[in-house]
Amino acid sequence: MKRIGMLTSGGDCQALNAAMRGVVKTLLNSGEKMEIYGFIDGYRGLIYGNYRMLTGKDFSGILTVGGTILGTSRTPFKLIREPDENGIDKVEAMKKNYKKLKLDCLVILGGNGTHKTANLLRSEGLNVVTLPKTIDNDLWGTDMTFGFQSAVDIATNAIDCIHTTAASHGRVFIVEVMGHKVGWLTLNAGMAGGADIILLPEIPYDINKVVNAIEMRHKNGSRFTIIAVAEGAISKEDAKLSKKEYKEKLRTRKYPSVSYEVAAQIQEKSGREVRVTVPGHVQRGGSPCPYDRVFASRLGSEAGRLIMEEKYGFMVGYVNREIVRVPLEDVAGKLKSVDPDATIVKEAKRLGICFGD
Ligand code: F6P
Repeated sequence: MKRIGMLTSGGDCQALNAAMRGVVKTLLNSGEKMEIYGFIDGYRGLIYGNYRMLTGKDFSGILTVGGTILGTSRTPFKLIREPDENGIDKVEAMKKNYKKLKLDCLVILGGNGTHKTANLLRSEGLNVVTLPKTIDNDLWGTDMTFGFQSAVDIATNAIDCIHTTAASHGRVFIVEVMGHKVGWLTLNAGMAGGADIILLPEIPYDINKVVNAIEMRHKNGSRFTIIAVAEGAISKEDAKLSKKEYKEKLRTRKYPSVSYEVAAQIQEKSGREVRVTVPGHVQRGGSPCPYDRVFASRLGSEAGRLIMEEKYGFMVGYVNREIVRVPLEDVAGKLKSVDPDATIVKEAKRLGICFGD
Protein backbone atom coordinates (compact mmCIF):
# COMPACT_ATOMS: atom_id res chain seq x y z
CA MET A 1 0.00 0.00 0.00
CA LYS A 2 1.32 3.41 -1.02
CA ARG A 3 -0.06 6.71 0.26
CA ILE A 4 0.70 9.37 -2.30
CA GLY A 5 0.21 13.11 -2.08
CA MET A 6 -0.02 14.98 -5.38
CA LEU A 7 0.02 18.66 -6.23
CA THR A 8 0.45 21.05 -9.16
CA SER A 9 2.06 24.39 -8.40
CA GLY A 10 2.88 27.62 -10.26
CA GLY A 11 1.38 28.75 -13.56
CA ASP A 12 -0.63 26.00 -15.21
CA CYS A 13 0.11 24.56 -18.64
CA GLN A 14 -1.17 21.90 -20.98
CA ALA A 15 -0.60 18.20 -20.11
CA LEU A 16 -0.52 18.55 -16.31
CA ASN A 17 -3.48 16.18 -16.19
CA ALA A 18 -1.85 13.84 -18.71
CA ALA A 19 1.26 13.64 -16.52
CA MET A 20 -0.72 12.89 -13.32
CA ARG A 21 -2.74 10.29 -15.19
CA GLY A 22 0.54 8.72 -16.33
CA VAL A 23 1.75 8.36 -12.72
CA VAL A 24 -1.52 6.91 -11.42
CA LYS A 25 -2.12 4.52 -14.33
CA THR A 26 1.41 3.16 -14.03
CA LEU A 27 0.96 2.48 -10.33
CA LEU A 28 -2.52 0.98 -10.74
CA ASN A 29 -1.39 -1.29 -13.57
CA SER A 30 1.49 -2.55 -11.44
CA GLY A 31 -1.11 -3.88 -9.00
CA GLU A 32 0.07 -1.46 -6.31
CA LYS A 33 -2.65 -0.56 -3.78
CA MET A 34 -2.85 3.18 -3.39
CA GLU A 35 -4.39 6.03 -1.52
CA ILE A 36 -4.08 9.30 -3.44
CA TYR A 37 -4.35 12.64 -1.68
CA GLY A 38 -4.77 15.48 -4.18
CA PHE A 39 -3.75 18.78 -2.60
CA ILE A 40 -5.82 21.70 -3.84
CA ASP A 41 -4.16 24.77 -5.40
CA GLY A 42 -0.56 23.68 -5.10
CA TYR A 43 1.56 24.08 -1.97
CA ARG A 44 -1.29 26.08 -0.45
CA GLY A 45 -3.25 22.81 -0.16
CA LEU A 46 -0.35 21.08 1.54
CA ILE A 47 0.23 24.00 3.92
CA TYR A 48 -3.41 24.26 5.01
CA GLY A 49 -4.30 20.56 4.78
CA ASN A 50 -6.75 21.15 1.95
CA TYR A 51 -6.97 17.93 -0.06
CA ARG A 52 -9.30 15.56 -1.87
CA MET A 53 -9.10 11.77 -1.84
CA LEU A 54 -8.78 10.59 -5.43
CA THR A 55 -9.25 7.25 -7.11
CA GLY A 56 -8.27 5.86 -10.52
CA LYS A 57 -11.61 7.15 -11.86
CA ASP A 58 -10.56 10.76 -11.25
CA PHE A 59 -7.71 10.26 -13.70
CA SER A 60 -9.85 8.75 -16.39
CA GLY A 61 -10.71 10.90 -19.42
CA ILE A 62 -8.24 13.67 -18.59
CA LEU A 63 -5.45 12.89 -21.06
CA THR A 64 -6.69 15.56 -23.46
CA VAL A 65 -7.92 18.08 -20.89
CA GLY A 66 -5.86 21.23 -20.31
CA GLY A 67 -5.38 22.95 -16.94
CA THR A 68 -5.13 20.88 -13.76
CA ILE A 69 -7.84 18.91 -11.98
CA LEU A 70 -6.15 19.88 -8.68
CA GLY A 71 -6.04 23.64 -9.22
CA THR A 72 -2.83 25.58 -8.79
CA SER A 73 -1.42 28.75 -7.27
CA ARG A 74 1.85 30.56 -6.99
CA THR A 75 3.59 30.21 -3.62
CA PRO A 76 6.80 32.25 -4.06
CA PHE A 77 9.88 30.43 -2.80
CA LYS A 78 11.32 33.65 -1.35
CA LEU A 79 8.34 33.80 1.04
CA ILE A 80 8.25 30.11 1.93
CA ARG A 81 10.34 30.57 5.09
CA GLU A 82 8.24 33.57 6.16
CA PRO A 83 5.21 32.92 8.38
CA ASP A 84 1.82 33.61 6.76
CA GLU A 85 -0.51 36.42 7.94
CA ASN A 86 -1.63 34.22 10.85
CA GLY A 87 1.90 33.36 11.90
CA ILE A 88 1.83 29.83 10.45
CA ASP A 89 5.24 28.40 9.60
CA LYS A 90 4.60 27.13 6.05
CA VAL A 91 7.42 24.59 5.90
CA GLU A 92 6.53 23.12 9.29
CA ALA A 93 2.85 23.02 8.28
CA MET A 94 3.67 21.07 5.11
CA LYS A 95 5.80 18.60 7.04
CA LYS A 96 3.08 18.21 9.65
CA ASN A 97 0.38 17.45 7.07
CA TYR A 98 2.65 15.02 5.24
CA LYS A 99 3.26 13.15 8.48
CA LYS A 100 -0.34 13.36 9.68
CA LEU A 101 -1.54 11.67 6.47
CA LYS A 102 1.32 9.15 6.75
CA LEU A 103 2.31 9.81 3.15
CA ASP A 104 4.96 7.67 1.48
CA CYS A 105 5.77 10.40 -0.97
CA LEU A 106 4.72 13.59 -2.71
CA VAL A 107 4.42 13.88 -6.48
CA ILE A 108 4.98 17.53 -7.34
CA LEU A 109 4.41 19.00 -10.78
CA GLY A 110 5.86 22.41 -11.43
CA GLY A 111 8.44 24.78 -12.85
CA ASN A 112 11.37 26.65 -11.40
CA GLY A 113 9.96 28.07 -8.18
CA THR A 114 8.10 24.84 -7.49
CA HIS A 115 11.33 22.87 -7.77
CA LYS A 116 13.09 25.09 -5.24
CA THR A 117 10.38 24.36 -2.69
CA ALA A 118 10.32 20.65 -3.65
CA ASN A 119 14.05 20.47 -3.02
CA LEU A 120 13.60 22.24 0.31
CA LEU A 121 11.00 19.65 1.34
CA ARG A 122 13.39 16.89 0.25
CA SER A 123 16.14 18.39 2.40
CA GLU A 124 13.66 18.48 5.29
CA GLY A 125 13.27 14.71 5.00
CA LEU A 126 10.14 14.31 2.84
CA ASN A 127 10.06 11.81 -0.04
CA VAL A 128 9.55 13.77 -3.23
CA VAL A 129 9.30 12.96 -6.94
CA THR A 130 8.81 15.85 -9.37
CA LEU A 131 7.72 16.36 -12.96
CA PRO A 132 8.86 19.30 -15.13
CA LYS A 133 6.02 21.49 -16.37
CA THR A 134 6.11 24.93 -17.94
CA ILE A 135 5.45 26.53 -21.28
CA ASP A 136 8.74 28.41 -20.79
CA ASN A 137 10.95 25.28 -21.10
CA ASP A 138 13.39 26.93 -18.70
CA LEU A 139 13.93 24.12 -16.20
CA TRP A 140 17.50 23.00 -15.82
CA GLY A 141 18.17 19.25 -16.07
CA THR A 142 15.71 18.50 -18.87
CA ASP A 143 15.87 19.30 -22.57
CA MET A 144 12.10 19.67 -22.62
CA THR A 145 9.25 20.45 -20.25
CA PHE A 146 5.65 19.45 -20.95
CA GLY A 147 3.40 22.33 -21.97
CA PHE A 148 6.15 23.84 -24.09
CA GLN A 149 5.26 22.21 -27.42
CA SER A 150 1.56 22.97 -26.95
CA ALA A 151 2.38 26.62 -26.30
CA VAL A 152 4.72 26.70 -29.32
CA ASP A 153 1.79 25.47 -31.43
CA ILE A 154 -0.54 28.20 -30.13
CA ALA A 155 2.01 31.04 -30.39
CA THR A 156 2.94 29.85 -33.90
CA ASN A 157 -0.71 29.83 -34.90
CA ALA A 158 -1.02 33.42 -33.63
CA ILE A 159 1.96 34.46 -35.79
CA ASP A 160 0.51 32.56 -38.78
CA CYS A 161 -2.78 34.43 -38.44
CA ILE A 162 -1.00 37.77 -38.12
CA HIS A 163 1.02 37.01 -41.25
CA THR A 164 -1.96 37.16 -43.56
CA THR A 165 -3.35 40.40 -42.18
CA ALA A 166 0.13 41.98 -42.03
CA ALA A 167 0.67 41.09 -45.69
CA SER A 168 -2.72 42.53 -46.71
CA HIS A 169 -2.12 45.87 -45.00
CA GLY A 170 1.63 46.13 -45.45
CA ARG A 171 2.15 46.74 -41.75
CA VAL A 172 4.77 45.98 -39.14
CA PHE A 173 3.29 43.55 -36.63
CA ILE A 174 4.61 42.61 -33.20
CA VAL A 175 3.43 39.37 -31.58
CA GLU A 176 4.31 39.25 -27.89
CA VAL A 177 5.09 35.73 -26.75
CA MET A 178 5.15 34.56 -23.10
CA GLY A 179 8.46 34.25 -21.28
CA HIS A 180 9.68 36.91 -18.87
CA LYS A 181 13.04 35.35 -18.15
CA VAL A 182 13.80 33.07 -21.09
CA GLY A 183 13.08 33.11 -24.80
CA TRP A 184 12.68 29.43 -25.78
CA LEU A 185 9.01 29.85 -26.63
CA THR A 186 9.56 33.05 -28.64
CA LEU A 187 12.55 31.58 -30.46
CA ASN A 188 10.70 28.41 -31.47
CA ALA A 189 7.35 30.01 -32.28
CA GLY A 190 9.16 32.84 -34.05
CA MET A 191 11.10 30.45 -36.26
CA ALA A 192 8.07 28.23 -36.85
CA GLY A 193 5.92 31.24 -37.78
CA GLY A 194 8.56 32.75 -40.08
CA ALA A 195 9.11 35.89 -37.97
CA ASP A 196 11.59 38.30 -39.54
CA ILE A 197 12.83 39.70 -36.23
CA ILE A 198 12.97 37.87 -32.87
CA LEU A 199 13.71 39.68 -29.61
CA LEU A 200 14.65 37.58 -26.57
CA PRO A 201 15.54 38.36 -22.94
CA GLU A 202 18.90 36.65 -23.45
CA ILE A 203 19.92 38.81 -26.44
CA PRO A 204 19.51 42.54 -25.66
CA TYR A 205 18.42 44.49 -28.73
CA ASP A 206 19.42 47.78 -30.29
CA ILE A 207 16.25 49.47 -31.56
CA ASN A 208 18.19 51.04 -34.47
CA LYS A 209 19.18 47.55 -35.68
CA VAL A 210 15.53 46.50 -35.48
CA VAL A 211 14.46 49.53 -37.54
CA ASN A 212 17.30 48.91 -40.05
CA ALA A 213 16.13 45.32 -40.50
CA ILE A 214 12.60 46.55 -41.25
CA GLU A 215 13.88 49.12 -43.73
CA MET A 216 16.06 46.52 -45.46
CA ARG A 217 13.04 44.29 -45.92
CA HIS A 218 11.11 47.14 -47.51
CA LYS A 219 14.04 48.01 -49.76
CA ASN A 220 14.09 44.38 -50.88
CA GLY A 221 10.41 44.46 -51.78
CA SER A 222 8.66 43.07 -48.66
CA ARG A 223 5.51 44.95 -47.72
CA PHE A 224 5.35 43.82 -44.12
CA THR A 225 7.48 42.68 -41.17
CA ILE A 226 6.64 40.26 -38.36
CA ILE A 227 8.43 40.66 -35.05
CA ALA A 228 8.19 38.02 -32.28
CA VAL A 229 8.97 39.70 -28.97
CA ALA A 230 9.36 37.82 -25.68
CA GLU A 231 7.65 39.38 -22.66
CA GLY A 232 11.08 39.80 -21.11
CA ALA A 233 12.90 41.20 -24.15
CA ILE A 234 15.28 43.95 -23.11
CA SER A 235 17.13 46.74 -24.91
CA LYS A 236 20.90 47.07 -24.73
CA GLU A 237 20.58 50.27 -22.66
CA ASP A 238 18.17 48.68 -20.20
CA ALA A 239 20.43 45.63 -19.88
CA LYS A 240 23.08 47.97 -18.45
CA LEU A 241 20.79 49.07 -15.60
CA SER A 242 21.02 47.47 -12.17
CA LYS A 243 18.20 45.10 -11.24
CA LYS A 244 16.73 47.80 -8.99
CA GLU A 245 16.93 50.52 -11.64
CA TYR A 246 15.35 48.26 -14.25
CA LYS A 247 12.51 47.29 -11.91
CA GLU A 248 11.86 50.98 -11.30
CA LYS A 249 11.84 51.65 -15.05
CA LEU A 250 9.28 48.88 -15.57
CA ARG A 251 7.15 50.26 -12.74
CA THR A 252 7.05 53.74 -14.19
CA ARG A 253 7.07 53.15 -17.96
CA LYS A 254 4.02 54.35 -19.82
CA TYR A 255 3.65 51.18 -21.89
CA PRO A 256 1.83 48.05 -20.70
CA SER A 257 4.70 45.84 -21.94
CA VAL A 258 7.95 45.90 -23.87
CA SER A 259 6.17 45.25 -27.19
CA TYR A 260 4.30 48.55 -27.00
CA GLU A 261 7.53 50.38 -26.25
CA VAL A 262 9.24 48.73 -29.23
CA ALA A 263 6.20 49.55 -31.40
CA ALA A 264 6.26 53.24 -30.40
CA GLN A 265 9.99 53.48 -31.08
CA ILE A 266 9.68 51.83 -34.52
CA GLN A 267 6.77 54.09 -35.41
CA GLU A 268 8.70 57.17 -34.35
CA LYS A 269 11.93 56.22 -36.10
CA SER A 270 10.46 54.85 -39.33
CA GLY A 271 7.04 56.45 -39.64
CA ARG A 272 5.61 53.00 -40.38
CA GLU A 273 2.32 51.70 -39.04
CA VAL A 274 2.91 49.18 -36.25
CA ARG A 275 0.37 46.94 -34.51
CA VAL A 276 0.83 44.79 -31.39
CA THR A 277 -0.87 41.47 -30.67
CA VAL A 278 -0.57 39.80 -27.25
CA PRO A 279 -1.96 36.23 -27.18
CA GLY A 280 -1.16 36.08 -23.43
CA HIS A 281 -2.63 33.22 -21.41
CA VAL A 282 -4.18 31.67 -24.50
CA GLN A 283 -0.69 30.16 -24.87
CA ARG A 284 -1.16 28.18 -21.65
CA GLY A 285 -4.69 27.09 -22.36
CA GLY A 286 -6.65 24.42 -24.17
CA SER A 287 -5.91 20.83 -24.92
CA PRO A 288 -2.31 19.54 -24.94
CA CYS A 289 -0.86 18.81 -28.38
CA PRO A 290 -0.22 15.13 -29.23
CA TYR A 291 3.52 15.52 -28.52
CA ASP A 292 2.82 16.77 -24.99
CA ARG A 293 0.26 14.02 -24.34
CA VAL A 294 2.84 11.36 -25.15
CA PHE A 295 5.70 13.19 -23.46
CA ALA A 296 3.83 13.89 -20.21
CA SER A 297 2.54 10.30 -20.12
CA ARG A 298 6.10 8.99 -20.48
CA LEU A 299 7.38 11.26 -17.70
CA GLY A 300 4.45 10.25 -15.49
CA SER A 301 5.13 6.59 -16.17
CA GLU A 302 8.74 6.95 -15.05
CA ALA A 303 7.63 8.81 -11.92
CA GLY A 304 5.36 5.83 -11.16
CA ARG A 305 8.34 3.53 -11.55
CA LEU A 306 10.41 5.64 -9.14
CA ILE A 307 7.63 5.37 -6.57
CA MET A 308 7.40 1.57 -7.00
CA GLU A 309 11.16 1.36 -6.50
CA GLU A 310 10.91 3.77 -3.52
CA LYS A 311 13.57 5.99 -5.07
CA TYR A 312 12.91 9.55 -4.09
CA GLY A 313 14.49 12.98 -4.47
CA PHE A 314 14.40 12.99 -8.28
CA MET A 315 12.87 15.02 -11.07
CA VAL A 316 11.99 12.94 -14.12
CA GLY A 317 13.58 14.70 -17.09
CA TYR A 318 14.40 14.22 -20.75
CA VAL A 319 17.98 14.42 -21.91
CA ASN A 320 19.33 13.43 -25.34
CA ARG A 321 16.02 11.72 -26.20
CA GLU A 322 16.07 9.57 -23.07
CA ILE A 323 13.80 9.77 -20.02
CA VAL A 324 16.17 10.29 -17.09
CA ARG A 325 16.17 10.71 -13.31
CA VAL A 326 17.80 13.95 -12.23
CA PRO A 327 18.64 14.58 -8.53
CA LEU A 328 16.47 17.41 -7.27
CA GLU A 329 19.38 19.24 -5.68
CA ASP A 330 20.96 19.52 -9.17
CA VAL A 331 17.81 21.10 -10.63
CA ALA A 332 16.66 23.55 -7.96
CA GLY A 333 17.51 27.20 -8.46
CA LYS A 334 19.00 26.86 -11.94
CA LEU A 335 17.54 28.41 -15.05
CA LYS A 336 17.96 26.95 -18.54
CA SER A 337 18.14 29.98 -20.80
CA VAL A 338 18.84 30.43 -24.50
CA ASP A 339 22.56 30.68 -25.10
CA PRO A 340 23.08 33.58 -27.54
CA ASP A 341 25.83 31.47 -29.15
CA ALA A 342 23.68 28.33 -29.43
CA THR A 343 23.59 26.66 -32.85
CA ILE A 344 19.84 27.30 -33.18
CA VAL A 345 20.45 31.05 -32.85
CA LYS A 346 23.27 30.89 -35.40
CA GLU A 347 21.06 28.88 -37.76
CA ALA A 348 18.24 31.41 -37.35
CA LYS A 349 20.65 34.24 -38.13
CA ARG A 350 21.83 32.42 -41.26
CA LEU A 351 18.17 32.25 -42.30
CA GLY A 352 18.15 36.04 -42.19
CA ILE A 353 16.32 36.45 -38.86
CA CYS A 354 17.40 39.61 -37.03
CA PHE A 355 17.83 39.45 -33.24
CA GLY A 356 18.51 43.17 -32.91
CA ASP A 357 22.04 42.55 -31.57
O1 F6P B 1 5.80 30.60 -16.13
C1 F6P B 1 4.89 30.50 -17.15
C2 F6P B 1 4.33 31.83 -17.54
O2 F6P B 1 3.26 31.59 -18.40
C3 F6P B 1 5.31 32.81 -18.18
O3 F6P B 1 5.60 32.56 -19.52
C4 F6P B 1 4.59 34.11 -17.98
O4 F6P B 1 5.49 35.18 -18.03
C5 F6P B 1 3.99 33.92 -16.61
O5 F6P B 1 3.82 32.54 -16.43
C6 F6P B 1 2.65 34.60 -16.41
O6 F6P B 1 2.27 34.44 -15.07
P1 F6P B 1 0.80 34.62 -14.49
O7 F6P B 1 -0.04 33.50 -15.03
O8 F6P B 1 0.99 34.54 -13.03
O9 F6P B 1 0.31 35.93 -15.00
